[in-house]
Amino acid sequence: MAADPATIASIRFAMLILSALRPKHDAGAAESLTGNDPDTAIARRKGNRRMNEGFFESLFGLSGRTAVVTGGSAGIGKMISRALIAAGAEVWIVARNAERAQRAAAELDGGRGVCHAIAADVTSAADIERLRATLAGSMNRLDILVNNAGLSRNAAFGAFPAEIWDQELDINLKAPFMIIQALHPLLRRTAADHIPAQILNIGSAAGFTIHCEESFSYYPSKIALHHLSRILARRFKQDRIQVNVIAPGYFETEMMDGFAPDEAGKAILLREVPAGRFGGFEDIGGLSLAIIANSYLNGAVIPLDGGYLLDH
Ligand SMILES: NC(=O)c1ccc[n+]([C@@H]2O[C@H](COP(=O)([O-])OP(=O)(O)OC[C@H]3O[C@@H](n4cnc5c(N)ncnc54)[C@H](OP(=O)(O)O)[C@@H]3O)[C@@H](O)[C@H]2O)c1
Repeated sequence: MAADPATIASIRFAMLILSALRPKHDAGAAESLTGNDPDTAIARRKGNRRMNEGFFESLFGLSGRTAVVTGGSAGIGKMISRALIAAGAEVWIVARNAERAQRAAAELDGGRGVCHAIAADVTSAADIERLRATLAGSMNRLDILVNNAGLSRNAAFGAFPAEIWDQELDINLKAPFMIIQALHPLLRRTAADHIPAQILNIGSAAGFTIHCEESFSYYPSKIALHHLSRILARRFKQDRIQVNVIAPGYFETEMMDGFAPDEAGKAILLREVPAGRFGGFEDIGGLSLAIIANSYLNGAVIPLDGGYLLDH
């Protein structure tokens, strides 16, 4: 039976993608591996490194893919942006402070034209519409959306203000939903094309525990984001848009300065982390790439906490 033209076109496209991802054969490296010269060990190491680069590229490479990272100008969002760019993606970072966002974008870009800044407040409907219009105007599709911008504030029980509830639910829960809703057509366009589009929401280990000190609204906002993410994963399953969550434990960022401003406070936090350190770039960058490159993981909420939740 003859295949129809659309099927042939899809097969050709798939073959093109596979050949682009396949590790490139390096004749020089292959020769030195079979030779008997004193540099063989170094050559083998170099050869292996080249082979591994191809291997890792085929698993985690994001060349030609576009990403938006909210809160990409600092902390965890900047770490994720750095990892996405290193894997080959073109990244738009979104934050309120335009100057800091531009600075971060320039640093991450390194003159390659792969990182752009958009000044926007993710809790503002007008800013979300401006973000959507900017993205639609410049690329008209989106492969990866990382909802990372968030807020954590404490206040003593008895004087806990309604304002903190409003701010935290707005940015930690409502904003990711409104951004997903606004950018859904762009994500769908990508997903219809070839591989699944990816939404990665940054939740928190706080969404798994009741050890919340005086953070009465932050913890519920994060568990609600975890739940919403699974609801949306189910809602989008026909669209080939996957939704997953990383739930970080302690990372040493400006947010942490808010609840542990000095070394003594940080030492107290560290005592609760079996790994004996705060999370860092390799931890969040590596897990983000593993999730985003995976077309078989959907609706997962993955703690990244150095073992914190084992005792909480
Ligand atoms: N650090 C931790 O230990 C930890 C632990 C668990 C979960 N998390 C989660 O990880 C995420 C990132 O935290 P982080 O520690 O990296 O925070 P951070 O250091 O405070 O950085 C926050 C980033 O978000 C941006 N941002 C804040 N409000 C925004 C708004 N309304 N609109 C647009 N951008 C906004 C900030 O830039 P502008 O100020 O310029 O807008 C900045 O780029 C959050 O969702 C947080 O809940 C963090």
